[in-house]
Amino acid sequence: MSTEEPTAGMQTTEDPWDEHRVRRRDQDQEASGRLLLTTAIEECRTGRLVALTEISLPGHPGGVAAQEDTLVLPGHRGHRLGMLAKAANLQQLDAQAPQIYTFNAEENRPMLSINEALGYRAAGYEGAWEKLL
Ligand SMILES: CC(C)(COP(=O)(O)OP(=O)(O)OC[C@H]1O[C@@H](n2cnc3c(N)ncnc32)[C@H](O)[C@@H]1OP(=O)(O)O)[C@@H](O)C(=O)NCCC(=O)NCCS
Repeated sequence: MSTEEPTAGMQTTEDPWDEHRVRRRDQDQEASGRLLLTTAIEECRTGRLVALTEISLPGHPGGVAAQEDTLVLPGHRGHRLGMLAKAANLQQLDAQAPQIYTFNAEENRPMLSINEALGYRAAGYEGAWEKLL
C-alpha cells in the first residue's frame, strides 16, 4: 500500500510487510477488541494472492466499522477485482456494525468509483501538508 496508493505527490517511504508482521497486527487487533474481516483473491494458475481488502470491526454492537486497505496488484487492475473483493467483504458484515467509514485520496478515481457504486457518501474532507526539511 505504501508504494501503490496515490499520495497527491507527497513523499512516502516504503513500509515493508511480512508474514510475522501481518500475524502480529491481527493479534493486536484482536487484543484491542476489534476484529479484522479480510477478503483475498487468489490467482488459480499461480496460487498467488493478487487482491486484498480489510474491514476493521468494532468490538461492541452498534459501533462503527472501518474500511481499511484495499489493494489489487499491478497487472490485475481494471478487471473488477477491487469491486469484487470489497463487495464480498461487506457481505460478511452483519447488524453488529450498521455504519462503515473509509478514507480516499481525491485523485484515486478507481477507488472512488468503487465506493460510490457501493453506496458510500462523502461525509467530510481532510487536508495534508508537507514540509521538506
Ligand atoms: C483502487 C484499486 C483497488 C482498484 O482495483 P481494480 O480491480 O483495478 O478496480 P476495478 O476493476 O473494480 O475498477 C473500479 C473502477 O475504476 C475504474 N478504473 C480501473 N482502473 C482504472 C485506471 N487505471 N484509471 C481510471 N479508472 C480506472 C474502472 O473502470 C471502474 O470504474 P467503473 O465502475 O466506473 O467502470 C487498484 O487500482 C489498486 O490497488 N490501487 C492501488 C492501491 C490503492 O489506491 N488502494 C486504495 C487506497 S484507499
